Amino acid sequence: MFSRWISPGSVRLTLLLGTLSLPIIFAFCSELKVRVRLADGQITEEVLEADSEKDCISLEFKQGDGTLITFIADFKQDVKIFRALILGELERGQNQYQALCFITRLSHNEIIPSESMARLRQKNPHAIRTAEERRGVEQLTVNVAVNLTQAMQLSSHIHNMCSVAKEAIYTREADVKYWLDRGVDGSMFEILPQAVDMPGLQSCLSTKDLWQPCSCNYRLRLEWYPCLLKYCRNRDTTGRGNPYKCGIKSCSKGYHFTYYVPHKQLCLWDEET
Ligand SMILES: *[C@@H]1O[C@H](CO)[C@@H](O)[C@H](O)[C@H]1NC(C)=O
Repeated sequence: MFSRWISPGSVRLTLLLGTLSLPIIFAFCSELKVRVRLADGQITEEVLEADSEKDCISLEFKQGDGTLITFIADFKQDVKIFRALILGELERGQNQYQALCFITRLSHNEIIPSESMARLRQKNPHAIRTAEERRGVEQLTVNVAVNLTQAMQLSSHIHNMCSVAKEAIYTREADVKYWLDRGVDGSMFEILPQAVDMPGLQSCLSTKDLWQPCSCNYRLRLEWYPCLLKYCRNRDTTGRGNPYKCGIKSCSKGYHFTYYVPHKQLCLWDEET
């Protein structure tokens, strides 16, 4: 019976719930470090933080190529932010690192609530984890540039996350429409060219000249994150206990961002893929 809740080969993460019997509401802050196997087989240490008062979750890990990926889910504003700090190639005239920020709407049930995340504990911190469910790749055409100074309106986390990426903060037109309908100031957005309006615009992959504009692709994968709560049932004498939260399901999900760059020099990784 219990094997339904413990998936084979994976080590269980437990939710410590129900330990507080007093109806006191206070904020939980927590940090959890999990060892995660990346697609290339390398092991990374992923840091997951949750703040139930700010109602947000952050997740950070280093890829095998040294790129630091940070993800924030801001439940207060229903916004998610991806940041990639990509190590530059100094010998090719690049900066020490290049920062990219992608902002888009957070849907319901994409990730577990911050309060549950803050209570997540692991029994075996040395276990190497792989997600139980490997989800596909979401394609995002992020052809709108966001002005950092004004982006506070979208989420209070943008400033911290994206100030290193000043010139490279992007979102989707569909998200912009949604925010404009909710009274956000439109002057922070600038629509960038897309392949559909610029027939000559090629993907950076097929652009030879480093100073030509092109359509850049950036791919990342959140290799392990708690995507769902699992419920268990206490078996009482009648065989019908109340369900309670007893763990999480982990997922992995890929993201493929496409956006305009004024010159290929800003998108050199598109050569290798
Ligand atoms: C961003 O907004 C600020 C404040 O409105 C403005 O001063 C600045 O020029 C804008 N930056 C760009 C790149 O448009």
